Amino acid sequence: MNQYKHMPLDFTRMPTQDQVQASREFLERMAMRRSVRFISPEPVPFELIENAIRCASLAPSGANQQPWKFVVVKDREIKRKIREAAESEERESYQHRMPADWLEALAPLGTDWRKEFLETAPYLIVVFRIDFGLTQTPEGEMKTKHYYVQESVGIATGFLLAALHMSGLATLTHTPSPMGFLSTILNRPKNERPFVLIPVGLPSPDATVPAIAKKTIAEVMEIK
Ligand SMILES: Cc1cc2nc3c(=O)[nH]c(=O)nc-3n(C[C@H](O)[C@H](O)[C@H](O)COP(=O)(O)O)c2cc1C
Repeated sequence: MNQYKHMPLDFTRMPTQDQVQASREFLERMAMRRSVRFISPEPVPFELIENAIRCASLAPSGANQQPWKFVVVKDREIKRKIREAAESEERESYQHRMPADWLEALAPLGTDWRKEFLETAPYLIVVFRIDFGLTQTPEGEMKTKHYYVQESVGIATGFLLAALHMSGLATLTHTPSPMGFLSTILNRPKNERPFVLIPVGLPSPDATVPAIAKKTIAEVMEIK
């Protein structure tokens, strides 16, 4: 197996003051990110969606296998089908499948099986994880192993959420359970599995969010 050629790293060294300023500005903007469950039907430029996906696809990944696919849904009828299937699964989950401690953990957020945002959001981005490589050869199907798929797709999704937020858009990280209906509705190949469903748009003018608190830096960081 040939090794990659090496090339000089393209890296801009910043003066410390500029580093600190950039870091503070980024933190300040990211501190405004919230999961938004009330999304306006107003249109948003498609370029914002495409650029955010370009950004997500620059994420690091195990062995650079980039085991992700981002399916953007803008078609009304497909959004309607997704809402219908998600609500049907979520109704079943909330009423019969979720154990008491899960329902208890969700209760303060006030969420339920209704998912209107799946139809009002101008775009839904469905992130799929590609569990293994699949290529057609004259001898038939060839599978290749993918490494660290969960970690890689999780990191790429983080990039995506950050990029969408930094473009002035609202998102929700949504995981209707189970999510298999997304593979069927979106006609995905058998090596892909739904990872997360992200409605994107502007918040409704009257959008509210639960007044949650985040852990403090002392709780989340340890210095040795
Ligand atoms: C992996 C994951 C799955 C989530 N699934 C859902 C979901 O299905 N429905 C929902 O309303 N929120 C979902 N959330 C959003 C969380 O409830 C939310 O991130 C959390 O309450 C913190 O709120 P914030 O995002 O506004 O900071 C999910 C978040 C993550 C990271």
